[in-house]
Amino acid sequence: MVIDLIRLKDSIYWVGAIDWNIRSFHGYVTNRGSSYNAYLVVDDKVALIDTVKDFFFPQMLKRIKKIIEPTKINFLISNHAEPDHSGGIRAFMTLAKNAELIATESGMKELKRYYGKDLQCTTIKEKPDIRLGSRSLQFFPVPMVHWPDSMVTYVPEEKLLFSNDAFGQHLASSKRFDDEVDQAILMQEAKTYYANIVMHLWRPIKKALVALSEVKIDMIAPSHGVVWRGRPEKIVETYGKWVSGVAEPKVIIVYDTMWRSTERIAVALFEGIASEGVEVKLHRLNSSNNTEVITDILDAQAVLIGSPTLNNGLFPTVASFLTYMKGLRPQKKFASVFGSYGWGGGAKGEAESLIKATGLELIESDLEFKFRPSENELNKAIEFGRMIAKKVKAKQIGTA
Ligand code: FEO
Repeated sequence: MVIDLIRLKDSIYWVGAIDWNIRSFHGYVTNRGSSYNAYLVVDDKVALIDTVKDFFFPQMLKRIKKIIEPTKINFLISNHAEPDHSGGIRAFMTLAKNAELIATESGMKELKRYYGKDLQCTTIKEKPDIRLGSRSLQFFPVPMVHWPDSMVTYVPEEKLLFSNDAFGQHLASSKRFDDEVDQAILMQEAKTYYANIVMHLWRPIKKALVALSEVKIDMIAPSHGVVWRGRPEKIVETYGKWVSGVAEPKVIIVYDTMWRSTERIAVALFEGIASEGVEVKLHRLNSSNNTEVITDILDAQAVLIGSPTLNNGLFPTVASFLTYMKGLRPQKKFASVFGSYGWGGGAKGEAESLIKATGLELIESDLEFKFRPSENELNKAIEFGRMIAKKVKAKQIGTA
């Protein structure tokens, strides 16, 4: 393997690994792969920021060896204990016996659970910052961005933030910087990452963004994807929009269908919404996956959910999606439910319960039709779609 040196700043390097093949990250479909970013800060003393998934440890080690003998590394900073970043910690600490491992208190406990009680670890309560030489590292806890243990590491002399999961993207690339990749793909992957990993953590992220506004940043090095060096404020501003729940005048229709009855209602709703000039998108759940649907929902104002009744309850793909959405809790949206049934219903009620549990505003509908919807019933769905579109437009101008 040819190892190129990737420099972020003078004597600060990317030493992570690229995972071209990962397609599921705890249920999140990662069609563009990912990367596990570790960084090396070389000064009078040397610090490694995070490691990689255990499988990729040899790749990380090769990159480090190109720069320095790993046994000469003085500090291993664990910004986050999730195994995609901590997977190499035990192997590294076995190799670099004199290195000092630093994490939050909660991080220390989690690392010991994962890798053994004998793992020696200093907490940031004991060492809130360290001086390496001409540069220093400052540690800031950011609990729940993404786990209770999460923290970020800041190099004030370089205005460089190692942000761990925040501002990441699951994007494998031979390029390491934001200004080297396609901007539309980059922002789409940043959006997909936010929607599928941290959308429900908007409160702690909002708090972290406020704290971040106090420090000067000209580079953000996250733990997945490319480094933001071109205009780091672009992703910070975009996160600001996402945490505030600001949405576009857009409706997402999510459904599945057994004998195309629920699909007919979905199409009628689509026609009604589109006739009012409001953007609307259809996702059938045997074609679209949960990851792409929730990403579209992030900046939509309304979600319409359609399910046929199967065995007195929700169709399995719709049940899966609603469970996924309930965990990610999109904010400030309204939702409604439609569907079809044969003899006894059940799907609509179950979907409505899940919508309420998700925290979305439920708009009651009577769009649940027996076997195949009639022309009259489809017209009713078109009218309902128009009503939803008007509500979206009114919300946009602040009257609903
Ligand atoms: Fe990329 Fe929460 O780990």
